[in-house]
Amino acid sequence: MRHTRILVTHYGGPDALRVIEEDCPEPKHGEVRVKVLAAGVALPDVMAREGIHPETPEVPFTPGWDLVGRVDQLGEGVTGFEPGQMVAALPIHGAYAEFVCLPHQELIPVPPGLDAAEAVSLGLNYITAYQMLHHSAGVKAGQRALIHGAAGGVGTALLQLGHLAGLEMYGTCSSRGAQAVSDLGGIPIDYQTQDFVKEILRLTGKGVDLVLDPIGGGHLWQSRKALCPGGKVVGYGLISSIRGEGLASSRPGRRQRFRGTALFALYILGGWLLPGRKRVVPYSIQTLKRLKPDLFRQAWITLLGLLQQGKIKPLIARRFPLAEARQAQELLERGGVVGKVVLMMNESPRTS
Ligand SMILES: NC(=O)c1ccc[n+]([C@@H]2O[C@H](COP(=O)([O-])OP(=O)(O)OC[C@H]3O[C@@H](n4cnc5c(N)ncnc54)[C@H](OP(=O)(O)O)[C@@H]3O)[C@@H](O)[C@H]2O)c1
Repeated sequence: MRHTRILVTHYGGPDALRVIEEDCPEPKHGEVRVKVLAAGVALPDVMAREGIHPETPEVPFTPGWDLVGRVDQLGEGVTGFEPGQMVAALPIHGAYAEFVCLPHQELIPVPPGLDAAEAVSLGLNYITAYQMLHHSAGVKAGQRALIHGAAGGVGTALLQLGHLAGLEMYGTCSSRGAQAVSDLGGIPIDYQTQDFVKEILRLTGKGVDLVLDPIGGGHLWQSRKALCPGGKVVGYGLISSIRGEGLASSRPGRRQRFRGTALFALYILGGWLLPGRKRVVPYSIQTLKRLKPDLFRQAWITLLGLLQQGKIKPLIARRFPLAEARQAQELLERGGVVGKVVLMMNESPRTS
């Protein structure tokens, strides 16, 4: 049986993405072959293609952090799964494919009846949002939070989960995302025309308890200025390294997995040493998955339950066929996307 898979052939712009046809992978001992139904497209995929994400594999590689699919074939020694059963996984790379083989311990059962695109959005984005709110920050109802990039994939997840947690929320976004931010219960602040520190101090008086910052670099320090004493910045991304500084480049890049991390460490240290009880802490979903797999698994199961109960509803910005992975990444790079971009695969199995 043949299948389609996306390959990053070199580090660089969207032209690094190739669609290939090859034999389906065979599950090894302990593995399950999954027929992928939906794979998330996220900025970390774009950063890995450019060679600048800490999780960038050696080329050639298949991108794709998270997937939802159906169990297709069990490898030797695997029990507890049925062919056809819907499952989710966060392999970190490899999800842009029609079929993937994964260790059975990686699979999370998905309750029947859920939309595959909505369920896959829970992987990278909602687990990140959930863990940052409840573990990194330990939020309490009534606290104030500033969410940067609030109209994006993680941002909209933070707004929905922050609303459930009873937070008062402010969200930076461009004018394109302002309506979505208000609809999700946040007070929008236009990052392109307003100074968010001044705006937060004007609106709250003494600052917020929590800032969630995916921008990184010097922006983390600005975020710290928006805190009230005892507050915390959770830094979790480096959008600053891909906007303005030539992501979506047409030049061939190289693997620089730790670009930006030294600066991050400096801000964390500064947060500890400077007066004002204002801390900067990092969050990384891949570290959580590796070091605390049970917590990671539990977060995804909790989120699937919230989706099933209708308490959260991921915003799907656009669904693309697998073969249009390049267009999907280009859309994300251009910006202005509200919610999650998802690659969708055909349900019907191939016969040849
Ligand atoms: N550490 C972790 O475990 C983890 C997990 C998941 C994601 N991440 C990181 O989180 C970041 C966001 O990912 P995502 O998938 O949510 O991306 P996304 O869907 O593209 O959203 C990013 C959002 O940020 C906005 N934005 C850009 N520059 C901004 C600025 N200076 N101030 C405020 N908002 C700004 C964009 O708005 P416009 O497009 O309208 O300009 C966009 O809505 C990425 O850096 C990713 O690597 C980290």
